Amino acid sequence: MKKAYRASLLRFDDAGRPLFDTDGLLVVAPDAQGRERVVDAGSHGAVQPRHPDVEPERLPGRILTPGFVDMHIHFPQTDIIGAPADGLLPWLENYTFPAETRFAEAAHSAEVAEVFLDELLRHGVTTSLTFATSHPASVNALFSAARHRQMRLITGKVLQDRHSPDGVRDDTERSLADTEDLIRRWHGVDRLGYAITPRFAPTSTEAQLRGAGELAARYADTWIQSHVAENKDEVKWARELFPASRSYLGVYDDFGLMRERAVYAHCIHFDDDDRHLMRATRTAAAVSPTSNLFLGSGFFDFEGAQRVDYLHGLASDVGGGTSFSPFHTMLAAYYAGREGQTKPGLSLAPSRLWWLHTAGAAQALGLSGTIGNLQPGCEADFLVLDPAATPLLARKSANAASLEELLFALIVLGDDRVIERTVIARAG
Ligand code: GUN
Ligand code: ZN
Repeated sequence: MKKAYRASLLRFDDAGRPLFDTDGLLVVAPDAQGRERVVDAGSHGAVQPRHPDVEPERLPGRILTPGFVDMHIHFPQTDIIGAPADGLLPWLENYTFPAETRFAEAAHSAEVAEVFLDELLRHGVTTSLTFATSHPASVNALFSAARHRQMRLITGKVLQDRHSPDGVRDDTERSLADTEDLIRRWHGVDRLGYAITPRFAPTSTEAQLRGAGELAARYADTWIQSHVAENKDEVKWARELFPASRSYLGVYDDFGLMRERAVYAHCIHFDDDDRHLMRATRTAAAVSPTSNLFLGSGFFDFEGAQRVDYLHGLASDVGGGTSFSPFHTMLAAYYAGREGQTKPGLSLAPSRLWWLHTAGAAQALGLSGTIGNLQPGCEADFLVLDPAATPLLARKSANAASLEELLFALIVLGDDRVIERTVIARAG
């Protein structure tokens, strides 16, 4: 059945510019497969006459926006948010690997999967590219839970066959066979997608990376996800382990792991050759600023990314990241962009930050026109925001003189209290 919602409406054009209707109308209807999609959107005055058959739901004072897209998050790290450590490698050893060991158990995986999806939706995140653990049970649990909720979600079994403790380390042959089985079982089922997931180069043998690259070539519309150039100790370790590659990023290229739909978290300690390699291969960076600030990893170079023009978008990286909230991530991205001691500093516009967490993130995932926007044809994953959710935000948003001021008020002062409703595009 066709439905319409009348409120302020935020969308983006193909160039990433914001389109804002103060009195907007969003019309959604099932497609031939029964999935709810946007069929019309714009100002109420222009759109309403084309749909005399529907009585809109009126949402005065509210803003309709696309659901947020989180380009990199770890569902098994939900419970280790806020674990302090002297940088990435001790954090992995002392908190992350012990926590991930428990995901061998299907019941634990299923319980945390529900908590994780509840948190995403409460914070307005409708799609995420998510790490599971090295245990197939963790992948099955998350896919099953997301399918039940009809969410678009991408995940995969972590590949880590060396430099990892018992309990998370996998076996080379078995890990690749399990990955292929999971691709066949889940990729393209309803709204689910599979990501081939080597944890990072230091915890995979050459044989495992080679096998991952072969699967990535054979299943060309799957995703690839990993980490790169997050922390200086990690970069040094990767360079020692793979001395023949031009750079840490070059390791992934050498094993056939850079292509469209490949997404690397962090991408901080890059040179321009790395940036050009990202661009040439249409590989994307998942920028994770709350994690980078929390673990003291460094600052993503937004100027370099824009200058070379390679794909990038925003991510929470929970549990290295400190919040599921896209508002917190956008604010941290602004801080990281401003930082001008280790790289050129710049001020990212609020609408740019928002784009990087919605339509821009969707573009980086190869899902433009499917999610991350409210243009006709997009799946109807959207949010109802209350810009007066807190007293101070109500004052700031009421006095905003422009769209940029309004969006900045939300980014700086907003959190889950702003998310009044998260709507998932249903089928049937
Ligand atoms: N590098 C390898 N594994 C991880 C992880 O779980 N989190 C982060 N932030 N970096 C990693
Ligand atoms: Zn990560």
